[in-house]
Amino acid sequence: MATLPVADRDTREKSRFVCCQARPTLGNNTSTLFPSWVPKTILKGIRLIKQLVVNTIERYARYKIDKNLNLQYTDERKYPQPDPTKSYLLYLHIPFCKVFCPYCSFHKYNFDEKKAREYFATLRKEIRIAKERGFRFSSVYIGGGTPTILPDELASTIDLVRELFDIDELSCEADPDISDALIDLLKERVDRLSVGIQSLDDKRLEQTKRCNKFGTADEQVENIKKLIANFKIVNCDLIFNFPDQTAEELREDIQKLKALSPQQISMYPLMYSPSVRKEIETNMGAVQNKKEYALYKVILDELGSDYVQNSCWAFSKKGITLIDEYVVDHVEYLGLGSGAFGFIDGTLYINTFALDEYKQRVDSNQFSTARHKSYSPKEILSYRLMVDMFGFGFSVENLADRYGAHAKKKLAIELFLLKLFKITDKNYQLTTFGKYIFLILMKEFYIGMDYVRETSREGIDRFGFLKK
Ligand SMILES: C[S@@+](CC[C@H](N)C(=O)[O-])C[C@H]1O[C@@H](n2cnc3c(N)ncnc32)[C@H](O)[C@@H]1O
Ligand code: SF4
Repeated sequence: MATLPVADRDTREKSRFVCCQARPTLGNNTSTLFPSWVPKTILKGIRLIKQLVVNTIERYARYKIDKNLNLQYTDERKYPQPDPTKSYLLYLHIPFCKVFCPYCSFHKYNFDEKKAREYFATLRKEIRIAKERGFRFSSVYIGGGTPTILPDELASTIDLVRELFDIDELSCEADPDISDALIDLLKERVDRLSVGIQSLDDKRLEQTKRCNKFGTADEQVENIKKLIANFKIVNCDLIFNFPDQTAEELREDIQKLKALSPQQISMYPLMYSPSVRKEIETNMGAVQNKKEYALYKVILDELGSDYVQNSCWAFSKKGITLIDEYVVDHVEYLGLGSGAFGFIDGTLYINTFALDEYKQRVDSNQFSTARHKSYSPKEILSYRLMVDMFGFGFSVENLADRYGAHAKKKLAIELFLLKLFKITDKNYQLTTFGKYIFLILMKEFYIGMDYVRETSREGIDRFGFLKK
């Protein structure tokens, strides 16, 4: 089986360097945090120190994440046999979109109905392979691309998963192109529908090329109302820190969404992966992070009273259990479908991105893993520390229970630094500054994942097939 070429190191260095041009700065509003009698030079000093901490952490994270996401290509390494005592999370990927948004570097190809139907059929075969191998799942996350692109195929796939496994919760991503027929088909099948709104400002929807696709902000408001009336849990994604976005514009976006009262809101910082940076700059303007922290504080301020914060970027109404991104909530997950990630038994796997290769593998009764990397116990521990902190699930008391008797000792330096730089308080609860730091870390992690996607797509055409 042909494997895809490993990325040329120079190209990688160059593209990562481009990404490093926009360093976050903390803006000039530190003064609002302190009484007016605190001398300006002290405020300036505090700002500079915080800036230095942010820059150092970001550089270090970028270095570590790059190193740790250097997945090897392989024909050999397949998902291991499941542990019969465990129930894993199942992630399913649907890599098709009708039109691409300029900021998005997720794994997707141009939609072609025939190919997409064939893909769904192959995915269902792969789900059956997982069942035959003995995997058990109680949670499912369906992401894209656009999982709702062929509603009948999505419904059949969900029905199969529910028939084969005892599923407690199923979460599915959607774009705002949602008809009444789609709602009828999915409302009983999906427990949580996560819809990408990105903004409720017409100017922003034009800029992100979503207005033509999904309608004006007013039309989307009507859509969201219908979804809320029909689904158990609706999550709405907004993106913040668009190049020309002001604090007032962000506040308005959040207030419009809050007025609709979705059960969950996810607030993603604009992620400018090397592969989309040029598109972002052409359509939206120069990427700049000077105001990111100030905008983040607007979010905490706006959502603080009505929503509980579940992670650095996810918020839910009081009393709603959050089904969040699979990387945050689940230690181990099986990824099925082209380009899906899975993490099992200390190894990260990624499936082939080429749709023809994907079908061939599955047709010969194999999983479609194409790259993998195994991690040491210490590396896994550091990764879990990042994810637990990001998802507010860290507690020093639980360290030994969750990760073994020596976990606290192994993480001693990290835990010391968290307190030293006021990222956490003495009980390891994140400060506002700490939440922002972990938002940056997770953003870097996603940008790193995008880089893996970008290199995995080399040699594949826009419909997902290996170039001849
Ligand atoms: C992979 S998309 C799938 C959702 C669906 N296709 C849609 O467009 O509504 C999931 C979410 O990722 C977020 N996303 C995609 N690209 C992003 C970027 N460059 N920066 C921040 N968030 C991004 C968006 O908020 C989007 O709703
Ligand atoms: S944001 Fe959604 S619709 Fe737009 S390209 Fe990404 S996955 Fe496709």
